[in-house]
Amino acid sequence: MTGWIDRRFPLTSTWKKHVSEYYAPKNFNFWYFFGSLALLVLVNQIVTGIFLTMNYKPDATLAFASVEYIMREVPWGWLIRYMHSTGASMFFVVVYLHMFRGLMYGSYRKPRELVWIFGCAIFLCLMAEAFFGYLLPWGQMSFWGAQVIVNLFSAIPFIGPDLSLWIRGDYVVSDVTLNRFFAFHVIAIPLVLIGLVVAHLVALHEVGSNNPDGIEIKAKKGADGIPLDGIPFHPYYSVHDFMGVCVFLLIFAAIIFFAPEMGGYFLEANNFVPANPLQTPSEIAPVWYFTAFYAMLRATTDPFKIVLMIVIALLGLFALVRARGKWRIGLPVLAVLVLIFMALTESKFWGVVVMGTAVVSLFFLPWLDRSPVKSIRYRPMFHKVFYAIFVFAFLVLGFLGTRPPSPAATLIAQICALIYFAFFLGMPFWTPRGKFKTPPERVHYKPH
Ligand code: HEM
Repeated sequence: MTGWIDRRFPLTSTWKKHVSEYYAPKNFNFWYFFGSLALLVLVNQIVTGIFLTMNYKPDATLAFASVEYIMREVPWGWLIRYMHSTGASMFFVVVYLHMFRGLMYGSYRKPRELVWIFGCAIFLCLMAEAFFGYLLPWGQMSFWGAQVIVNLFSAIPFIGPDLSLWIRGDYVVSDVTLNRFFAFHVIAIPLVLIGLVVAHLVALHEVGSNNPDGIEIKAKKGADGIPLDGIPFHPYYSVHDFMGVCVFLLIFAAIIFFAPEMGGYFLEANNFVPANPLQTPSEIAPVWYFTAFYAMLRATTDPFKIVLMIVIALLGLFALVRARGKWRIGLPVLAVLVLIFMALTESKFWGVVVMGTAVVSLFFLPWLDRSPVKSIRYRPMFHKVFYAIFVFAFLVLGFLGTRPPSPAATLIAQICALIYFAFFLGMPFWTPRGKFKTPPERVHYKPH
């Protein structure tokens, strides 16, 4: 049977190349569960999404009631809906942990730059997917959240107002907006997402997986050409990942059955109220996975714009003194142009720029990090401290984004935003410095 297929389709060779003869380092730890878990959640979102679409109505007069209908009348509809809404949040939990693992072990470094870049593109798509999906239940938060985010585009100089009108398709978020967001949520973005996930895995399998020691197992091969520290993905990691899947499903089910709203973090109270274009809720806050970026947006006030201008001026001066070749003139000139542009434009626009740059900075990580070793295990202590401060600042931003603004909260968010960017901008300077431990020749592995 397989022979018949193999003569017509590369079934066995693909299975071997990507599963049974894909040699992964034998020292994978807990952090390596999250890639397969992200795949699992992706499948969950697609399958539950298909079933939701069977009863959901993308029409501003019917959408809210159709979701209530799914929850109360459709057999098992409540389960499907909670699996999808909980799945959205768990997707971000899993992906944030997956990205953090990459950061810790330097998995974005050569030769895995493309694995990382596809990953960052996936992250962008995931954000777009969640944003478009959030409008569909047509609750108060759906409506006003979309209103706030689409209005941000109107802050872009010259084209802004026309651009936000074009995105909405109307002067306010309306039925037209709901229809196009539905189209993006159910087909356009998922197609791109699936394509990117395939590219992500193809790129990974081309170069091979990194590991907690951050050393290349392909550098030490046996006489059979197989890496000495590599073990076949199947059955070793298929069984290992299955264990991760079981633990994940326990947590997932516990949330679905006992706390699907997760205290308002996964499903916001205001979204159980139908959208009312005539009544703005007292607080408009995005779902938790956007709040760190939202806090940066809110923190970009007029005084903070001046702080940013001072930072750019200092960077321009630094380039004038330290840069070499054409950069010595090019960078300061660029800084002056940016400063003039900043002086002429409102801080709301720069809030959008700050928020966008926070995500885009991730793409450049492979070239910003210049440390001689990949894994955090062999880096100097102060590197670990910098990583910890960065993660702490990100978590604080995430927390502040869920709270109503206050002068103290704004100040803390501004400090954390500066830390976030300093981490990336400073990387070329601090990453090569300090006393590094020599990574081992072979991976560390304790059989258990
Ligand atoms: C739908 C979302 C995603 C899926 C399904 C996915 C899937 C996977 C899988 C199955 C692996 C191999 C297993 C593992 O190493 O854990 C992997 C590795 C990797 N992923 Fe993702 N991923 C996703 C998002 C991301 C994002 C957002 C990033 C970073 C911005 C990223 C960066 C990486 C890197 C650097 C590796 C290689 C890790 C190593 O070898 O140490 N991924 N991904």
